Order: sequence, then C-alpha cells, then structure tokens
Amino acid sequence: MNDDHQLKNLFEGNKRWAEKVKTADPDFFLKLSRQQSPNYLWIGCSDSRVPANEIVGVLPGEIFVHRNVANIVVHTDLNALSVIHYAVDILKVNHIIVCGHYGCGGIKAALGNKDFGLLDNWLRHIKDVYRLYQNEIDNCTNDAEKENMLCEFNIMEQVANVCHTSIIQNAWKAGHSLTIHGWIYNIEDGILKDLKLATSNINEISYTHRIN
Ligand code: CO
Repeated sequence: MNDDHQLKNLFEGNKRWAEKVKTADPDFFLKLSRQQSPNYLWIGCSDSRVPANEIVGVLPGEIFVHRNVANIVVHTDLNALSVIHYAVDILKVNHIIVCGHYGCGGIKAALGNKDFGLLDNWLRHIKDVYRLYQNEIDNCTNDAEKENMLCEFNIMEQVANVCHTSIIQNAWKAGHSLTIHGWIYNIEDGILKDLKLATSNINEISYTHRIN
C-alpha cells in the first residue's frame, strides 16, 4: 500500500510538471516530439543528487545523457560507446561534458577495501585511476581530501578516455568541432566547477593513444 502511494505521487508530480511546462510554452512537447537536437552530451554519475538537466537549469531536449556509477568511460563499454557514437555522429553535439561530483559513493568505495560484490568489478576501474595517482592521493592529510582529489583525477582520466575513442578522433579528423570538458559538481552547495580540462584537438591527447 505504502509503495502504491509513493508511486502515485510520482504520477501526480508528472502531471503537475507537464502542466507547468505547457503553461510556459504550449507547443513545447509537440516541438520536441518531432525531433531532438541537443548540443551537449553529459556523462555523469548515477547519483540521485546529480540530475543533469536540473543542475544546469535546462529543459528536456537540451542535453543527451549517459550516467553510471562514478561517471566512468570504460574502453570496451558498449553502452557508453554507443551513446557517444550516437551523440557525435548522428546528433552532432559540439560539447561532451564528463561531470563528476564531490562526495561520490563510488569514489569512496574505490578508496577502501570493503566487499561490495558485483560492483567491485566496476569500482576496479576507479582503483586503476587511484593507482596512477597514488603518491599524490596518499599524501593527503585526511580522507575527505583524498576522496576529493580522486574525484578530480577520475574526471581527468575519463575525459582522456573519451578523447581516446576512435569515435572522437575520427570526428576531429573529419573537421567536426567537438570539445570534451571535465566538470565537478559540489553536492553541498549545488555549484559546478570547470576543471579546465577542455580538449578539442587530436594534438592535445597523448601520443600513445593517437590514431593516425
Ligand atoms: Co557519484
């Protein structure tokens, strides 16, 4: 019964939301139903506190979104690669934003040794990032600082992983204007920060990963 009530709230909330949007723009849904033409691909964390559209204040139709635990782009993840391919080659987005957040549960878990079952296989990708920057991270004086630092390094590595895909490199070669960004969101104050990792050219990526 309780569950039914909670789900009913969601449908009621949906009706109110659709009404509000229609009041502001009566043709909104009609226009969107014909086509989407977002200019941004957002790769973010699944965390319920980091909803892509809301935190940048835009309506449906503006951002193409992929989310997973700790905003990771794994080289062979067909799901993430399909999203990137569609966004770049079909939707022709000009910006890809990898957005992590401070206080990320996945990052915290990857710094520890607790058994999370199946999820440990996913978290190992973050442990790979930790291992790359272990000296800097282990120099931090407390856990919060360590977690924040790994959140930022993880975003840096995932931006690089996006750039290393054949999809992005081929788009650049074809002259498509495409910039990959790394941002971090602070769940304590709702503010986004640009980590200044913007990459828009094949010459900006490591030589080892360039496809000529
Ligand atoms: Co997270």
